Amino acid sequence: MFETLDTLPPDPILGVTAAFRRDTSPLKVDLGVGVYRDESGNTPVPAAVRAAEQGMLGTQTSKSYVGPAGNVEFNERIVALALGPLAPTLADRTATIQTVGGCGALRLGAELVKVSRPGTVVHVSDPTWANHEPLIGSSGLRLERYPYLDATRRDVDFDAMLGYVERLPAASLVLLHACCHNPTGADLTPAQWAALGDVIVQRGLVPFVDLAYQGFGDDLETDAIGLRVLAERVPELLLAVSCSKNFGLYRERTGALAVITTNAAARAATATHQARLARRMYSMPPDHGAAIVARLLADATLRQQWQAEVGSMVARMKGLRALLATRLSARLPAHDFGWLTRQRGMFSLLGLTESGIARLRDEDHVYVPPDGRMNVAGISDANVDYVADAVARLLA
Ligand SMILES: Cc1ncc(COP(=O)(O)O)c(C=O)c1O
Repeated sequence: MFETLDTLPPDPILGVTAAFRRDTSPLKVDLGVGVYRDESGNTPVPAAVRAAEQGMLGTQTSKSYVGPAGNVEFNERIVALALGPLAPTLADRTATIQTVGGCGALRLGAELVKVSRPGTVVHVSDPTWANHEPLIGSSGLRLERYPYLDATRRDVDFDAMLGYVERLPAASLVLLHACCHNPTGADLTPAQWAALGDVIVQRGLVPFVDLAYQGFGDDLETDAIGLRVLAERVPELLLAVSCSKNFGLYRERTGALAVITTNAAARAATATHQARLARRMYSMPPDHGAAIVARLLADATLRQQWQAEVGSMVARMKGLRALLATRLSARLPAHDFGWLTRQRGMFSLLGLTESGIARLRDEDHVYVPPDGRMNVAGISDANVDYVADAVARLLA
C-alpha cells in the first residue's frame, strides 16, 4: 500500500522548529513557529484560562459526545467576542460550528464553499501565511493571489489591492486577515476596510475573514474593527476564528467557523451542511478547549483577568518591536526601521534573501521560516543584541 509514497520535504514552518531543536548551539534563537513566548521563552497558559479549566474540571459531570456543531455556548460567545454589538443583529443569519482550531475553520469553510459553488476562486494576499494555500487549496478550490505588500514602504499597497479586487468577478472569495497580518504585520486602516467593504458589496464578492490574533494587535475591540466594518455591510461573509493564540490554547485545537448568510432560511441550510461536512470528516470536535473558553467568557471576573493578560502580551510584543528597532537603528543609522513599530502582532518580514536566511541559520543559529518571517515574541532582552547584530550584518 505505501511502498510507492515518496518522502515529502518538511513543512516550511514546522520544519524550522525541528531544525532548531537539532541545533546544539547555546546561542540559538527561535524566531520561527507562530507561538507567543514570554521573556524566558515559555508559551504560558494564561492564569484566567487555567482558572476556567480548573472550574470546569470540578463541575463536569459527563464526557458524553457533544454534537457536530460542538459546544453551542462556545459558538455563541466566541462569535459575540468577534462581532461585538453586531452579533445579536446578525444572529438569525449566522451559522456557527466549532472547529478543530482556526485551521479547521479555514478548511471547513473552503469545503462548504466547494459544496455550494464548486467553481469558486479564492483570492489570498501575496504574501500570506504559508498554510493558507495548502489548507484551502486541498478542498479543490482554485487559488489566486492579490497584491498586498509594498515591499519598499513595508506597508499595505492598498491601491494595488483595491485595483485587483475591483476587477474580480462576482461571487469570488477574498481571504482577508482580520488583524496582525501573517507574515507581514501590515494591516488595513479602518478607512481602507470601509473602502474595501464598499467594493466587495458593489462587486458581489464574499469575504472570508481569518481572525487568528484578536487582541494581539492593539486590543480585542480595535483588532475586530475591520471584520465588523465588513460584517455590517456585506450580505454574506465567512469567519474563521482561532483561540490558539489569544487564549493560549494551541494544542487544544479550539476554533469556530461562522458563516453570515443572507437570511434565516439560508442560515438553517448552511448549518446542516456544516454539520454534515464535520460528521463526514471527524464527526465532532474536541470539547475541552471550547468548554474552557465558553466558561471564561461567561464569567466577568475571569474575562477581565484574561483581557488584562492578553494586554500584557501585546505590551511585551510592542516593547520588543521598539527595542529591536532601536538596536537595529544604532547599528545601521542610514536605515529606517519605523516599519517594525508600525506593524502589528507577532510577525514582520525581515526582508532577507534566501541565502541571507540560510546564513542567519547556519552562521548565527537564528531560525526563521523560508519566507523570512520573524516571530517578534521570540526576541528577549537577553538575545536582542545578538539578533540585531546578526540581522544588521545581512542588511548592511
Ligand atoms: C493567519 C493564521 N490563521 C489561522 C491560524 C490557525 O491556527 P490554529 O489552527 O492553530 O488555531 C494561524 C496559526 O498560526 C494563523 O497564523
